Amino acid sequence: MNILLVAAEVSPYAKVGGLADMTSALPKAWQADGHSVTVVLPKYGAIDAKAHGLEKTDLTLAVPFGAWNEYASVWKAQLPGSSVPVYLIGSEDYFERPGIYGYHEGYEDNDRRFIFLSKAAFELAKALGMRPDVIHAHDYHTAPCMPLLKVIYRHQPEFAGTRGVFTIHNMAYQGYYDPIRAMDFCGFPMEDFYPGAWYEQDGAFNCLKAGIMFADKVTTVSPTYAQEIRWTPEGMGLQSALQARGADLIGVLNGIDTDEWSPANDPFLALPYDVDSIEKKQVLKSILLAEHGCYPHNVDNDLPLIGMVTRLTEQKGISIFFNAIQAFIERNACRLVVLGSGDRAAESRLRELAAAYPSNVIVHTGYNNALSHQIQAASDFYLMPSKFEPCGLTQMYAMAYGTVPIVRAVGGLADSVTAYDPVTFHGTGFRFSAYTAEACAAAIADALRVYRREPHWTHIRRNAMDTDMSITRAARRYVEVFGWTLEARPR
Ligand code: ADP
Ligand code: GLC
Repeated sequence: MNILLVAAEVSPYAKVGGLADMTSALPKAWQADGHSVTVVLPKYGAIDAKAHGLEKTDLTLAVPFGAWNEYASVWKAQLPGSSVPVYLIGSEDYFERPGIYGYHEGYEDNDRRFIFLSKAAFELAKALGMRPDVIHAHDYHTAPCMPLLKVIYRHQPEFAGTRGVFTIHNMAYQGYYDPIRAMDFCGFPMEDFYPGAWYEQDGAFNCLKAGIMFADKVTTVSPTYAQEIRWTPEGMGLQSALQARGADLIGVLNGIDTDEWSPANDPFLALPYDVDSIEKKQVLKSILLAEHGCYPHNVDNDLPLIGMVTRLTEQKGISIFFNAIQAFIERNACRLVVLGSGDRAAESRLRELAAAYPSNVIVHTGYNNALSHQIQAASDFYLMPSKFEPCGLTQMYAMAYGTVPIVRAVGGLADSVTAYDPVTFHGTGFRFSAYTAEACAAAIADALRVYRREPHWTHIRRNAMDTDMSITRAARRYVEVFGWTLEARPR
């Protein structure tokens, strides 16, 4: 199958969250299964072209934009660990600036930037002589690819047989744009924008809704989230659009790239380990603690370490987290290590906690890939008290690293973490349901009780590490979904 994947984030070039992990892991897995894949993302100013081996091609794309053409340069790279071609769309105006979306509120012209990217992807495919079977767009940024395919590009011979698949990684970000601008940038007649139109929500041009309505199939990143967004407020106002596409909305649980996330083969760890040498985690924990100025007095009898690597947003449960963890830290019942960035109030509250309990709390604000791996390896438990969670990858990385997850059982957390049962010894972690600090604290207390208590400690960590979360399963399921869209293609 010939797949064109278009996204605003692709690891390792540009990453804010798990979207980037998925848009690099899937293409690698598809290529390993024999599919032909091309990846498109912007050439952001912050990407280190040299470090990532980017080469400028001599292509210049003329992108029809409103009443005129705008131009893009094209850079090429190869996705590490594969030979998947990656094309980066260059534009001084749109992408040569710091950051990806712009901090907090985002850049004012994100409508232009991402509609430009979505259109440029089609123009690139034409310039390369590609005839994609499927164009696979992700989240609101590249959602405009779906209406662009159906309204404009399918009338061009290169895309006559192309189908559109749209993957929702998060309903919380929808891309609400001024319709006069967005319809014009896309090249759609303004009379097609009216109350109840597929582009319209609450009077605005809604990218996510347009992606949902115009795609041949819509996927989201876990089966539970696929249900939640249809029937609960997690649909963030788009429940009826999702219900309308009910038969075409499929939950495909994310998977993990084991080239990137495997404790036996992780260049960021001082010591590799696997399920049979899991005791080495203890050494990695001592290293992490020592490096951050927390010296355990007695390594054999030290405190359990709870880790978190997270965007600091309401989604990740920050409003219940502080009240839940405080008492454990005060009682000297555990240590905490957090790597996170985002909400300024949460960042400063975390720094205050670290200042108040310097030998029990380590806090790093900012983005640090090496440290994210080290925290996963060094921690005993991994906490994810999310308010909602489309899938979540860090709990999966934790499990792969023998770190026991404590999660709120929503979305993909419910689909990836099973409750440990001390009678049967089955299960991979601890779960709670109510979105309250009390419920979270109760789950933390349950978890801390199994710390180093045998035979449970061995069982639960082994169960977690033995869970198959590989990206191959997810990648094949996507290909199955792509296949369904192609069945409807006229011969
Ligand atoms: P989300 O996409 O909602 O942020 P996921 O769990 O799917 O959540 O993915 C988060 C990804 O971002 C993981 O790869 C995680 O390691 C990474 N990450 C999050 N915050 C940081 C940070 N401050 N530094 C480094 N990596 C981070
Ligand atoms: C989003 C979601 C997260 C998911 C990730 C990758 O950022 O918040 O739950 O794991 O996308 O699909």
